[in-house]
Amino acid sequence: MTEFSGNRNFKISNQKVVESCSSNIALIKYWGKYEGQIPANPSISFTLNHCKTNTEMEFFAAEEFSVQTYLAGNEEVKFAEKIEKYFKSIEVYLPWILKGKYIIKTENTFPHSSGIASSASGFGAIAKCLMSLDHNFNVDNQQATTDTQKTSFLARLGSGSACRSLYNGLVVWGKTEEVAESSNLFAVPYPNEEIHPVFKKFNDWVLLVHEGEKTVSSTVGHALMDDNAYAERRFEEAHENFKILKEILKTGDMKRFITFVEHEALTLHAMMMMSNPAYILMKSGTLEIINNIWEFRKETGLNIFFTLDAGANVHVLFPENEESDSIKSFIKEELLPSTQNGKMVMDEMSF
Ligand code: PMV
Repeated sequence: MTEFSGNRNFKISNQKVVESCSSNIALIKYWGKYEGQIPANPSISFTLNHCKTNTEMEFFAAEEFSVQTYLAGNEEVKFAEKIEKYFKSIEVYLPWILKGKYIIKTENTFPHSSGIASSASGFGAIAKCLMSLDHNFNVDNQQATTDTQKTSFLARLGSGSACRSLYNGLVVWGKTEEVAESSNLFAVPYPNEEIHPVFKKFNDWVLLVHEGEKTVSSTVGHALMDDNAYAERRFEEAHENFKILKEILKTGDMKRFITFVEHEALTLHAMMMMSNPAYILMKSGTLEIINNIWEFRKETGLNIFFTLDAGANVHVLFPENEESDSIKSFIKEELLPSTQNGKMVMDEMSF
């Protein structure tokens, strides 16, 4: 067995590790960041049950560093370049990381090119693989103590939102007075005893309004917040929103929750429209779906609402109860026609 000895007198041998990580959808959005992948505001998300990335990482100790990646069996050179850059950026924490050859095979449980963000589940799974390779990994003086916090710390450096995918349920990333253990460096679970049971099981049906690459990447989107005249107010609002959400989560006030979550989603897209240059990731199908949801909710009073990621797809949220059958029929009959190819991914969160 070939072995490489790192700076910490730690030997890492040829190994194959396999890990899986879920995607997540934010309720308070992270949009805007500082040097070192530090979020400009705290965020909170739900981890999804079914949208996952499964990753197999093979490591061969060698003096020369190389990365080969396969996505659903096809070689992906661009992804390999991204991973190489990421590994270089975390060498300070994993001194052995550039001393080897990697073959990384990754598969998403959701359709390829669906426009569903795979960076959260993707980097979450990669970070878990790295932790499996190096059980002794230690982020000296960086506050992360548990294994999950350390994995979250590593995932954050790949993609900010990925750090929240390491836990089930409601997860917080970014320092906020409202959550005692919160940190800018890694995510922590939202305290379970502070969550009303109505928020512990939810459907999230993702309507695929636009499949394929979006026109403006999240990296560019975050950077455009640097000069956005409304950014400071937005960051303040996100902090204030934690206080409001905390109360909603505790009392189980679904109506307030609905208004709150939709406001956050629209604020994210409003920030894009107020950037310089301005851009719009919503499509006409996105707006049709939003308007239809609003009309249906007004007519029926049912608890169906939406959130958005940095893209055109719509996450349609509704609790699972005796009312959900009519909501499901409405989605299939009235909302699905506004998607590009009549497709959706039926996911849920439960904890
Ligand atoms: O993790 P990134 O850099 O892909 O940023 C994603 C940000 C949003 O998905 C739009 C919001 C969030 O908090 O997940």
